Amino acid sequence: MIRYENPLVFGAGAANFDINCIIKEPPLVMKDSNLVSMVASSGGVTRNILENLARLGVQSAMLSAYGDDAYGDRLRKDAENAGIDMSRVRLCQGVSSSSYVSVQDADGDMAVAFCDTSVLGNIDPAYFDSYKADVCKAKVAVCDPSMPIDLLEYFIFNTAEDVPVFLDPVSTNFARQCIPLVKGVDTIKPNRMELEAMTGHSTATEADLRIACEKMLELGARRVVVSMGRNGCYLMDRDGLEIRRQFKPIENMANATGAGDSFMAGLIYGFVNGLSDTEALDCALATGTIAVLSEHTIEPNLSVEMMRNTIAKYRM
Ligand SMILES: Nc1ncnc2c1ncn2[C@@H]1O[C@H](COP(=O)(O)OP(=O)(O)OP(=O)(O)O)[C@@H](O)[C@H]1O
Ligand SMILES: [Mg+2]
Repeated sequence: MIRYENPLVFGAGAANFDINCIIKEPPLVMKDSNLVSMVASSGGVTRNILENLARLGVQSAMLSAYGDDAYGDRLRKDAENAGIDMSRVRLCQGVSSSSYVSVQDADGDMAVAFCDTSVLGNIDPAYFDSYKADVCKAKVAVCDPSMPIDLLEYFIFNTAEDVPVFLDPVSTNFARQCIPLVKGVDTIKPNRMELEAMTGHSTATEADLRIACEKMLELGARRVVVSMGRNGCYLMDRDGLEIRRQFKPIENMANATGAGDSFMAGLIYGFVNGLSDTEALDCALATGTIAVLSEHTIEPNLSVEMMRNTIAKYRM
């Protein structure tokens, strides 16, 4: 078991067991049994960010819950093999671990997905309180809105109150629920759609994008970093810093899943290593590029060296 005394990064969120079903004989037929190929892996936004960080050599620990089932066992083993400290994750007797089942159409688009993160209902403020002293020694806390929103609020404002919080809004639906929490957040990383959902402002032009980011800062974040797929990213902070950055776009992505998680990990890597904002964005763009070039959600060979080589190769 991995246990770091003072992890640099704490992540609070779901560790999901993901099952991705790819239809073998399209189209998908409802109310019937469909032949699929099934691929199982460990997922969950915060867990994925921590795995990327661990592969970049950043000591990272998770706060979450899993059940005493085969999925929970696999989640813990996968995370520990990747280098994540799971020693504080709550093991709950007689309940199912978080799982996410998605069904993919022949064209690669998601047809439908099912998500059960109810095990996180076994986490309460007292659980977070018991690790507050550890979290407060970390350099960054990272979270996503997959846990009940009042619990996320408690984590941000009470547990991680002295630590910069990085938040990924994950989806437009979750993003809207996150609006009251933004004032407790150091850095928020929406994609364009999430930024629009949270600020009610278009991001159609670069001028619109700037206004939407100003609105996000008005909601209370110290800094907003918008990830924009092949168009790179845009950073704005409360001190008036603005950076627009882009690497060479990848035309033939091997797998788009996980790009946002890897981008966030690169950003946090830069922050905990004291890099400038521009350098941190280069790390984020590099880890995002690595993710879309990899057929895996998280590139298993990700390393600082690979990130550095990617910056050298793809920076424009
Ligand atoms: N086609 C591409 N070419 C180059 N880089 C890409 C491409 N697609 C994504 N990226 C990189 O990945 C980062 C994150 O991607 P994106 O903005 O799509 O995040 P997201 O919408 O949060 O993704 P996710 O669906 O994983 O949550 C981008 O900022 C960029 O660095
Ligand atoms: Mg995302």
